[in-house]
Amino acid sequence: MLALDWVSPMADSNRRSLADKVAIVTGGASGIGAGTVRRLVDDGASVLITDLDEERGKALADELGDAASFLRTDVSKEEDISAAMLEVVDLFGGLDILFSNAGFGGALGPIVDTSVDDFDLTFDVLVKSVFLGVKHATPLIAERGGGSIINTASICGLRPGWGPHLYTTAKAAVIAFTQTAALELAESGVRCNAICPGFIATPLAYGRPDASTDQIDKMRNAGANSQPMGRVGEPADIAAMVSFLASEDGSWITGQAITVDGGMNVGPLWGDFPEAFRTSKPIRHHRPPDR
Ligand code: NAI
Repeated sequence: MLALDWVSPMADSNRRSLADKVAIVTGGASGIGAGTVRRLVDDGASVLITDLDEERGKALADELGDAASFLRTDVSKEEDISAAMLEVVDLFGGLDILFSNAGFGGALGPIVDTSVDDFDLTFDVLVKSVFLGVKHATPLIAERGGGSIINTASICGLRPGWGPHLYTTAKAAVIAFTQTAALELAESGVRCNAICPGFIATPLAYGRPDASTDQIDKMRNAGANSQPMGRVGEPADIAAMVSFLASEDGSWITGQAITVDGGMNVGPLWGDFPEAFRTSKPIRHHRPPDR
């Protein structure tokens, strides 16, 4: 058979379909998590929404009907993560996809003013949670023949300057843990990737979990022109990448930190490049004449 005659086993399948798949989304009551819950349910998956915020988590689960349920979970507590695994098996029969996404801004301010308690809390919520997710989800996902774990990192984890010290350090740790975990998990068919979002219009980016729609709209409009693509990101932009990584289309991708940021982390806006780079007028270079 010629190589060109080979047909991928996925060629005829319903691309991106997550029918019969089961997912857990942590931090699923708000922002990126809530957007991803909606996307995964649209793709056909059943989703256990976990979050500290019971009111918003339950409201979203009620809205989505039988395809979704809610469990109050603190991602920094091992007993809560274990309980979420038991709940998802009880409700939906197993687990194929874990989106470890819950997070907050963590400690702010200069290092000399940062307490060890602040350090521990920041790392418990942003890093220990990701470790606990991999630890407890891997056996369940492997039991179903493999699947996908996706961790929310950040462009902050790629380069200092976008966020506070400990948030930046924690998100770099999420990337490193994702990569080393992927190497171990590959043998059991479990893929493990991180997504590095840029500036996404959510309460976290506004700096207040209770930010109103109006406040987020203002931030969205104010931030648009500071983005290479001319708009800030939306939860749906990250949800689309989660959906891709969870699907068969992502079946050969593991150990990656995938940036979804409209170009923000690539470099300065084109308009901020030095004038001489942006116009071809001041100096014209010519090829030397042929000998
Ligand atoms: P958000 O504030 O809208 O949602 C975060 C959710 O996590 C909330 O529902 C909150 O209750 C939940 N949560 C916080 N601590 C928790 C805990 N201990 N246990 C369980 N749930 C907890 O924020 P957003 O923006 O949707 O954040 C989601 C993830 O995306 C976070 O990991 C964040 O660091 C990351 N991120 C966000 C960016 C942005 O610009 N919004 C950029 C890069 C990364």
